[in-house]
Amino acid sequence: MLYRIGIVGCGTVGRGFLEILDRKAAVLEAESGFQARIVAIADKIKGSLISPQGLDIKKTLKALNQGWPLSAVDPEAVLPNGSSSAEIIAACPADIILELTPTNIRTGEPAAEHIRTALRTGKHVVTTNKGPLALHLRELRELAARKKRLFRFEGAVMSGTPVFSLVEHGFAGNAIRGVSGILNGTTNFILSKMEIDDVNYGEALAQAQKLGYAEADPAADIEGYDALAKVVILANVFLGANLKPADIRPEGIAGITRDMVRAAKAEGQRYKLVGFARRTVNGVAAGVASRRLPLSDPLAGVMGARNALTFDLDLLGPVMIEGPGAGRIETGQAVLQDLLAIHRELK
Ligand code: HSE
Repeated sequence: MLYRIGIVGCGTVGRGFLEILDRKAAVLEAESGFQARIVAIADKIKGSLISPQGLDIKKTLKALNQGWPLSAVDPEAVLPNGSSSAEIIAACPADIILELTPTNIRTGEPAAEHIRTALRTGKHVVTTNKGPLALHLRELRELAARKKRLFRFEGAVMSGTPVFSLVEHGFAGNAIRGVSGILNGTTNFILSKMEIDDVNYGEALAQAQKLGYAEADPAADIEGYDALAKVVILANVFLGANLKPADIRPEGIAGITRDMVRAAKAEGQRYKLVGFARRTVNGVAAGVASRRLPLSDPLAGVMGARNALTFDLDLLGPVMIEGPGAGRIETGQAVLQDLLAIHRELK
């Protein structure tokens, strides 16, 4: 089955997804009958294209890797200046829109409006964008249901490490009492680098940015707002909460110095930024805070940009998953996972 795909926001994640598609197109078609044609890209910085016959993926990747404007890919597909992303979403001949613009956790925009436009104009949506999910999940899910379109977001938490699909399939029949874990790759990478390579905070952050882990504005990582968005999404999806990011004040890692990391290490301990949400008699309690953990704690062994999440389940008890939490290919894989899930559902 051939899917016509439009990409809105073609930064780190979009590039990762296209790299995977380039590498795996033949296998995906042979093994599952999945074929993708990229019919549109809308990017505020790189430019926008609509190409009903499909863009050449290698040429698109070359332009993205070289930092060229997307007009270099197919001059005939270029749209007039001033076309908004929402207009492109509405007009493009896509079956599925990938909403991959940078997260804005305060407003959820422009991503939320992109998703609404895509659903209203009959497209399925895959997103990795945490803003619209943390702020408008219920509304967007209802809109998708009304429009009979699929709306998936595996990459919003723990990149390609399965969280939502794991609960949907593997944990079927369990009630979830709570979740807790390390939910931000950038801060875990920085804390790990400060301890193991003894680099300072600035150097570690620069590496996290270079490796594509950090948000466009890394303050969201450092101050705990990215982990908070994920906690809110998990609480609302799994615990039936109706939390908003503004309900919770997160703690980040800005106050943790290299000396503090060294002192903790000398005492067999390690700092980690931990997010949690759990059912209580008074509703759902949730938060994000830095913790000094003994090395014997399973979370203390999660290093680099890896994340971990423990589910407290009524039938299975605690189940912990550990895997990549951020990254170009790791999050691109989450997009592919969702596309293949849509394919299985529509087939
Ligand atoms: N900036 C995020 C992180 C990206 O570091 O975890 C993945 O959501």
